[in-house]
Amino acid sequence: MPQTPGDPWWKSSVVYQIYPSSFQDGDGDGVGDLPGVIDRLDHLHTLGVDVVWLSPVYPSPWDDNGYDISDYLGIHPRFGTLADWDRLRDGLHERGMRLIMDLVVNHTSDEHPWFADSRASRDSAHRDFYFWRPDREGGPPNNWGSVFSGPAWTRDDATGEYYLHLFTRRQPDLNWENPRVRARVHDIARWWLDRGADGFRMDVINFVSKVPELPDGPVLSEGGYGLFAEYSINGPRLHEFLGELRDAAFAGRDVLTVGEMPGVNVEQAAAHTDPVNGEVSMVFQFEHVDLDHGPGGKFDQVPLDLRRLKESLGRWQLGLADRGWNSLYWNNHDQPRAVSRFGDDGKYRVASAKTLATTLHMMKGTPYVYQGEELGMTNAGFSDIAEYRDVETLNHHRHALAAGADEESVMAGIARMSRDNARTPMQWDASPNAGFTTGTPWLAVNPNHTEINAEAALADPDSVFHHYRRLIALRKELPVVVHGVYAPLLPDHPALFAYTRTLDGAVLTVLANWSADTVAVDADPAVAGPGPELLLGTHTVPEGAPEGVFAPLRPWESRVLLSR
Ligand code: NOJ
Repeated sequence: MPQTPGDPWWKSSVVYQIYPSSFQDGDGDGVGDLPGVIDRLDHLHTLGVDVVWLSPVYPSPWDDNGYDISDYLGIHPRFGTLADWDRLRDGLHERGMRLIMDLVVNHTSDEHPWFADSRASRDSAHRDFYFWRPDREGGPPNNWGSVFSGPAWTRDDATGEYYLHLFTRRQPDLNWENPRVRARVHDIARWWLDRGADGFRMDVINFVSKVPELPDGPVLSEGGYGLFAEYSINGPRLHEFLGELRDAAFAGRDVLTVGEMPGVNVEQAAAHTDPVNGEVSMVFQFEHVDLDHGPGGKFDQVPLDLRRLKESLGRWQLGLADRGWNSLYWNNHDQPRAVSRFGDDGKYRVASAKTLATTLHMMKGTPYVYQGEELGMTNAGFSDIAEYRDVETLNHHRHALAAGADEESVMAGIARMSRDNARTPMQWDASPNAGFTTGTPWLAVNPNHTEINAEAALADPDSVFHHYRRLIALRKELPVVVHGVYAPLLPDHPALFAYTRTLDGAVLTVLANWSADTVAVDADPAVAGPGPELLLGTHTVPEGAPEGVFAPLRPWESRVLLSR
């Protein structure tokens, strides 16, 4: 193990995200559940991941697929019971894996008892758990827009005041200025850790501190993060609130905490993850997954310039090299499938899925694999709005059409970028419904499951799955993968993503062709020392090539080289 004394375990770990609704259905109701996850633990063990992040499984009215919680200390009946959760925890721990939970505490569901009481009257005990404000000239108190389209305020009839919701109207924002709110959050975190959780992924946690006056933002446009960023993200008390949570719940416990932070920059991330006084192990930053958002936001996708992607990820690598720690991801339940978005999900699906993985997994940080990514699952790209379930997608469709947009182009944007692309059921085998359920799946299975599925991938030594398995194993074998110093190579090359990692005389060189052309490795990026060996490649090196491991790279070919 590359771990050295004093190094937290999560630095050499790989995390696997499970989106429970879509992983495995154990009871035939068409929705995944905890018994289903338990049945599939060997898949994760074979892949070699160390940690499971479980997206929300709590009681919820399901307005935003469980990111609207009505009871933080329970399990939604659709997923099972707390006893099932205990079995899952044990099943993971027995296999040497850990379990982190999703802590969604910027907002609750409108059905949470705190909100039910809060909205009942201006004097209720929980009134100040949320943000209530009188109208401004008969309209909302300020001009903030919700991330999911429309205003961030809704008027409530019971008291005639407006409440703040940065997401849907059924996700009222908690008022962290109130110390009682923060104390309840600490209780929730401790409760799960006491029960055996190994940490948290913390939903939009940099939204919890807002500029207290809630002033108008510069613009009110339709949907997306950033509409109100100036005043409600990374607010003045963020470090204080997160430091308090760390001291009250995490201190003295060996946990992994990852704060989801849209709009965070490198400097802020370094401060949040500083081992000396930072508050979380690592953050999810968004820069690299926002690069293809156009002027109209995420659904207005623009082509990605590889040089910008390299510049962005490289800056994060260097910026957190000595202070703080990176998380590494292409996919999650909010992003379209990476092979469709950044790779080639047609002719070069397998090679491009592997090359995306190589590029990411050899960087410094903790990689996250989103369910199905290890199979090279693709966007479903449904063409009919009736096939979609995601509230962000449905709201965008409604608002865009109401604003006069042309339906065809709205649907094209949705087919490429909707979150439901990531949420179609896990493809286990070629049978009807992909082995996910015996019932009717809550979201249609991608028809390509007849070809792309876990059973086929496990049986094929050249599959995307086995490539992920080998990349994950390299992280365990080679300290340079965990600790090596990152240096970019060929930053201006439009098609090659190349870099080195160096540690104690070992040099790891990553060469990745992000294109469908054959590309010469023009400047020999080899570093001094004996000729590098090929550790892992998407293709075998052409026999007799005079350049050896520096031979031209075929479409979407990548190589990991080691010299020592
Ligand atoms: C981020 C989550 O990942 C996303 O799925 C959710 O809709 C929002 N936060 C609101 O909780």
